[in-house]
Amino acid sequence: MADKKFTVGVLTSGGDAPGMNAAIRAVVRTSLTNNMDVIGIKHGYEGLISGEFNAMGPRDVGGILQRGGTILLTSRSKRFMEPSGQRDAIRKMNEAGMDALIVIGGEGSMNGAYALSQKGVKVIGIPGSIDNDIWGTNIAIGTDTAMNTIMEAVDKLRDTASSHQRAFLIETMGRNSGYLAVMAAIVCGAEVALIPEVPITADEVALSVEEAYKRGKTHAIIINAEGSGVRTTDLAETIDNMDVGFKTRMTILGHIQRGGSPTAYDRLLASRMGVKAVEALIEGHHGVMTGLKGKGVDFIPLLDVISNKRKVNMEYYHMAKVLAR
Ligand code: F6P
Repeated sequence: MADKKFTVGVLTSGGDAPGMNAAIRAVVRTSLTNNMDVIGIKHGYEGLISGEFNAMGPRDVGGILQRGGTILLTSRSKRFMEPSGQRDAIRKMNEAGMDALIVIGGEGSMNGAYALSQKGVKVIGIPGSIDNDIWGTNIAIGTDTAMNTIMEAVDKLRDTASSHQRAFLIETMGRNSGYLAVMAAIVCGAEVALIPEVPITADEVALSVEEAYKRGKTHAIIINAEGSGVRTTDLAETIDNMDVGFKTRMTILGHIQRGGSPTAYDRLLASRMGVKAVEALIEGHHGVMTGLKGKGVDFIPLLDVISNKRKVNMEYYHMAKVLAR
């Protein structure tokens, strides 16, 4: 019997992000090129616990580079948060002869990856999250596509906001991070951005909108990150009640931000990170995440990734305000 080849498992976990498929494709094809076997795990950590495994060949990842979502499906697994779930997962990995695991996902997924690495599993993380809230990488897979989705939507909303001289409230995703909202404020020319990192009241926002009206603006765009602490409906009510000049309309962009074909940037980033994750294993690294640092993709210890909080760059927050004059 031929010697068993080094076998890599790959899964996607948490909220999906455009470009995850490109990362899966890169992992599969780089591993096969280097004489490794690849097992695709369905439904993230849930599938790792229940053994939803399939061997993957080069044709299994054909035609997916341009597709949003994840062909491996994903989940937010409660069971895996418990040590017993992690133990069961390791057992299933051993039964399948899996020697290493590549986890593509967000902050919570990197916590799971670190927990496995502490139990002796060779794990490599790849950051994928539209929120861009993962420490250790300049940008995560999916963020660029989500930004472009937001930009297209806000551009359309601005057209109608201007025609009717209205204030449009637009809610972006970002439970704990204002990254998307701040960047959207810059690239879409918003008057105000509300983010979890900077407390602000609905009354204060209404006053800024009134100021914008007095300065002669034909419309106002207000970007509210979902985790800002101010509900978009309450904000609309406050602005309408304070009679600031503009009447309001609101749009909650929701999960539209998570779908769609990845941008060229995300396809390239995902491909580079997928290749680098396999190279990490070949070079004997594990317990690390691939991270974009400057122009290169580096390895960042998972412990550092999960023990640090990525903060919104306040320079961008202030820039958005200056440019809204
Ligand atoms: O983490 C990505 C994210 O899209 C957050 O911005 C958002 O709060 C959350 O996922 C929504 O999760 P779900 O798809 O489970 O509703």
